Amino acid sequence: MSATVLYMSMSFDGFIAGPNETPDNGLGDGGHRLHEWVLPSGEYDRGVTRPRGVNGQIFDEMMATGAVVAGRGTFEPADGWGGDHHDGVPIFVVARGEPGLDVTSWPLVSYVDDVTEAMTRAKEAAGARNVLVHGAGVTRLALTAGVLDELELHVVPVLFGQGRRLFEGLPAEQIELERARVSWLLSTRAGDLPFTPQPGVKTTFRSITVDGEEVEFSEGFGDLHTRVYEETLAGRGFRIPDARPSVELTHRIRRTPVTPSDVVLRHPMLAAL
Ligand SMILES: NC(=O)c1ccc[n+]([C@@H]2O[C@H](COP(=O)([O-])OP(=O)(O)OC[C@H]3O[C@@H](n4cnc5c(N)ncnc54)[C@H](OP(=O)(O)O)[C@@H]3O)[C@@H](O)[C@H]2O)c1
Repeated sequence: MSATVLYMSMSFDGFIAGPNETPDNGLGDGGHRLHEWVLPSGEYDRGVTRPRGVNGQIFDEMMATGAVVAGRGTFEPADGWGGDHHDGVPIFVVARGEPGLDVTSWPLVSYVDDVTEAMTRAKEAAGARNVLVHGAGVTRLALTAGVLDELELHVVPVLFGQGRRLFEGLPAEQIELERARVSWLLSTRAGDLPFTPQPGVKTTFRSITVDGEEVEFSEGFGDLHTRVYEETLAGRGFRIPDARPSVELTHRIRRTPVTPSDVVLRHPMLAAL
């Protein structure tokens, strides 16, 4: 399912821009240090470069988004990215007043005065893809309205001391962040079954456990393929928009590098191998 994802580069002490921000000095004094990982030349006109390693993975994720939501404070000092942030995806700019740039010749750009509306329209436009979110003010508005699904911060090992903080001006209440931990095991080894297989009777086991509650769904798949073909031939098959989220998720999983995981996160059956 599509998510609104905040992508920001932040100093270790929580700043997303240096001091003395002006329209001509959008990231403040020394602020471009935060973007060195993607902009080694420091010159925005020369465009961003896909970095190597894990930074490249974050870059790819950002560039795979299907819409952008940014605050005026981000969009306008960046000269509106020339009307196209990446790949011609729509851009929704959160601001209450009139545009401070001439956007009449930029069909991808819409000014929206409500963050929830901006996020909703961006999700609609992005379809199955995620929405890239940028801006400190927008972060505050979106967190308060409960419309920011994920935070993906690129924490740069530098202390700024001063500048613009990312998490500032939030209401005095705690926002608990969740981290989904998914461990799964797909095995064709009969020995992994929690029972002795009986050929022709029961040879498969499917189960999912969410928050400690297990649901077994091993049964009911016997004539799955026959039923799928019957439904497809009857014109009730899945169409491309139905299948697209699954295909994209599979694509993402397949592109995710294998990393040695914490023993605690390993599937218990895997640990026993
Ligand atoms: N380090 C990074 O990765 C990174 C990435 C992006 C941006 N930045 C930096 O972040 C800074 C921009 O952040 P920012 O906090 O100024 O702004 P922002 O999130 O880009 O924009 C916030 C805008 O939201 C509008 N706004 C405020 N309250 C609102 C409300 N209640 N309803 C609707 N709109 C509302 C305001 O525009 P109006 O006054 O018109 O309403 C305000 O300018 C810049 O320095 C930029 O360079 C850093």
